Amino acid sequence: MSQQRILRFPRGFLWGTASAAYQCEGGNTNNQWYLWEQQGHIHSGDVCGQAADWWEYAENDFLLAEQMENNALRLSLEWSRIEPEEGRWDDTALERYRAMLLDLRRLRMTPVVTLHHFTDPLWFTERGGFAEAENIRLFVRYVEHVVATLQDVCSFWITINEPNVYAFQGYLRGIFPPGEKDLLRTFVVLRNLMQAHVEAFYAIRNLQPEALIGYCLHYRLFDPLNALSPLDRSAASLQESMFTWSALQAAETGRLTFPVGQVVPPLTHVAGTRDYHGVNYYTREMVRFDPLLPGEGFGRRVVRSNVPRNDEGINDGFGEIYPWGLYRVLKSIYQRTRGNKPFYITENGFSDRRDDFRPAALLAHLAVLQRASQDGIPVRGYFHWTLVDNFEWNDGWYVRFGLIELDPITQRRIPRRSASMFGEICQANAITE
Ligand code: NOJ
Repeated sequence: MSQQRILRFPRGFLWGTASAAYQCEGGNTNNQWYLWEQQGHIHSGDVCGQAADWWEYAENDFLLAEQMENNALRLSLEWSRIEPEEGRWDDTALERYRAMLLDLRRLRMTPVVTLHHFTDPLWFTERGGFAEAENIRLFVRYVEHVVATLQDVCSFWITINEPNVYAFQGYLRGIFPPGEKDLLRTFVVLRNLMQAHVEAFYAIRNLQPEALIGYCLHYRLFDPLNALSPLDRSAASLQESMFTWSALQAAETGRLTFPVGQVVPPLTHVAGTRDYHGVNYYTREMVRFDPLLPGEGFGRRVVRSNVPRNDEGINDGFGEIYPWGLYRVLKSIYQRTRGNKPFYITENGFSDRRDDFRPAALLAHLAVLQRASQDGIPVRGYFHWTLVDNFEWNDGWYVRFGLIELDPITQRRIPRRSASMFGEICQANAITE
């Protein structure tokens, strides 16, 4: 008979789900993603519409999270609601967010608030968005306004979600707005986003000295398809250093990776500008050398068919389910930063419409996380992406990440098997292997 092992997480561990305003709220028509959708870029033809209806009814889903024994919840604020026109603040929007955050606190869930999650107000886009360094101050002004207003109900802030995805998908791969394909602009945008984080960090610290402040990056691994091929190996390592590590390096040292660091101005005053590492981890890519793809580090991404996989997206998928990658990522960040800050898994999840493999995948990732913690990596929380199915950017409703299934037309919710499993884990603060 096989012995069951109980793997415990540290005391005070945060358990929750993560989400973003545009994907859940519905009715956000004043940002660049809405425009992108209107221009017909969502290949499935889907619209975000009322999304998961959080602007009206977020609290109903918060209750479901509470029933799942979650003690934290990550959501984002929609800048275009709070500052619909440059310099004009909408107090009713901030009041709505205050009500949501108060409700979370009432349910004994720590609110974790992302200030920027992919969407920009249209007026900001019209000014050139984050491609213009001089616009950083506009973001910082918004952050100051929000934190000054909501600091009594929230003290855990994520300044910017996945600056590397925003920059690479929007400015190199052309599959997020504004749909550009320009390597240099990609790094300019990445640099400006990281600098915006730095400046937002000081602004928040100033207003709320006790706040926890950080950003989260998308940490994706790139491995050679053929480990014996030097060309595959270099292409994979180039992709990983561009996509995954350059933003972390910029945050650590102020400099972007060579050769980009020669052209893009360094960041200023980066030292000590985060209280934790926010880690979004989903997958790894296998890479084959391809001389025709200089912009992608001469690498073609290949999804192997003989490995456990996420449901495929239309434009871009998450491919392989690779739990051990989470350990590799944590270890690598720890080493690159000399273990100077605690870690939160700010996102991890699976696109699995039928919930066939999510339960096992979730368990496998948590086992790896617990091992990292045992090995001395200071992990303090795990946020599953996501609570209820929501609008998945360029893939629309085509891929489903929710612990709870949502029909966006009827708004009917049906908890998946994973939801009850996650609830048991959160309650026990442990997994059983
Ligand atoms: C990354 C993003 O932060 C989130 O918005 C997205 O839905 C998930 N990962 C899944 O793709």
